[in-house]
Amino acid sequence: SDLHQFLAELPKCEHHLHLEGCLSPKLVFKLAAKNNVELPDPKTSPAYESPETLEKRYEHFDNLEDFLQCHYRAMRVLVMREDFAMLGWEYFAAAHADGVKHAEVFFDPQSHTSRDIPFGTVVAGYRDACDRAERELGITSRLIMCFLRHLPVESAAETMRSAVDGGYFDGDSDDARAIAALGLDSSEVGFPPELFREMYAEAKRLGVHRTAHGGEEGDPSYISGVLDALHGERVDHGVRLVEDPELMRRVVAEKILLTLCPLSNVCLQVVKDVSELPIKTFLDAGVRFSINSDDPAYFHGYILNNYCAVQKAFNFGIKEWKLIAENSVNGSWIGEARRSQLL
Ligand code: HPA
Ligand code: ZN
Repeated sequence: SDLHQFLAELPKCEHHLHLEGCLSPKLVFKLAAKNNVELPDPKTSPAYESPETLEKRYEHFDNLEDFLQCHYRAMRVLVMREDFAMLGWEYFAAAHADGVKHAEVFFDPQSHTSRDIPFGTVVAGYRDACDRAERELGITSRLIMCFLRHLPVESAAETMRSAVDGGYFDGDSDDARAIAALGLDSSEVGFPPELFREMYAEAKRLGVHRTAHGGEEGDPSYISGVLDALHGERVDHGVRLVEDPELMRRVVAEKILLTLCPLSNVCLQVVKDVSELPIKTFLDAGVRFSINSDDPAYFHGYILNNYCAVQKAFNFGIKEWKLIAENSVNGSWIGEARRSQLL
């Protein structure tokens, strides 16, 4: 049966979305012109000839690292507060069209502070987008500040100090805080979660939520590390959990949420096809998960495309989808009032 209409209308929560991953080739060229940023020379990097040729470059990635290289190269066009606001708004407008009601979104301050863009400019721009999304679209949201794990730990510690000293974690509820949670992204293998133990311990003390990428390319020790060393409440991706049944039982017992990104996993060659993902295994075992878009400007689609790809591969019924939607509401960092609106 075709559940497309049902899936389109299903109220969705998104938990794994990189705002910088919404930087489309069109927006790259638009912001480069606006800010007078020189893009890579098309003679040596032909992809930078036009938005169309850049789009073409994004049609194939060898792996996570290949994608990240493209991703970090494009970032330089983001300069002013309004640029971050524009990028965030493009996400929320697309998410709204896909039926997203609540979004907890990642951003990478170090991708910008390393280029001398002030931390406060980045957060202020993204907050502008969040506020506008709530006002104009009724979408509630949270910001999740990610550390880039391939950079020195001291750079993450400095980023943590910017957030703490700037009062970005202040406020007595998740929605009163400019930043609600910590995340951890970029190259996984060789950069284990244990490196970031101290920043996460401080977050826990401050009542800041915690998640981290793990088990996308890394083995299950990268998942147990998120739980043990980082006090993670979620694991982003976590697909390789299926290789460790004992750990899987722990994830079920501790009600850890996996934030799955099926189309991303295909684009970055984690699997050849969505049908190879252990989504049915997780569902049957009682592992909670949400379905998300990761970097929609690169991976051919926002959240609804991901829902539809899962449906095409697994042909779930209404009952399964209602459970998936319910788990994604219950796994959201929202108060009881908002939760009961969404359920
Ligand atoms: N994994 C690691 N880092 C990332 C990703 C991802 O899927 N997307 C953007 N940065
Ligand atoms: Zn991601």
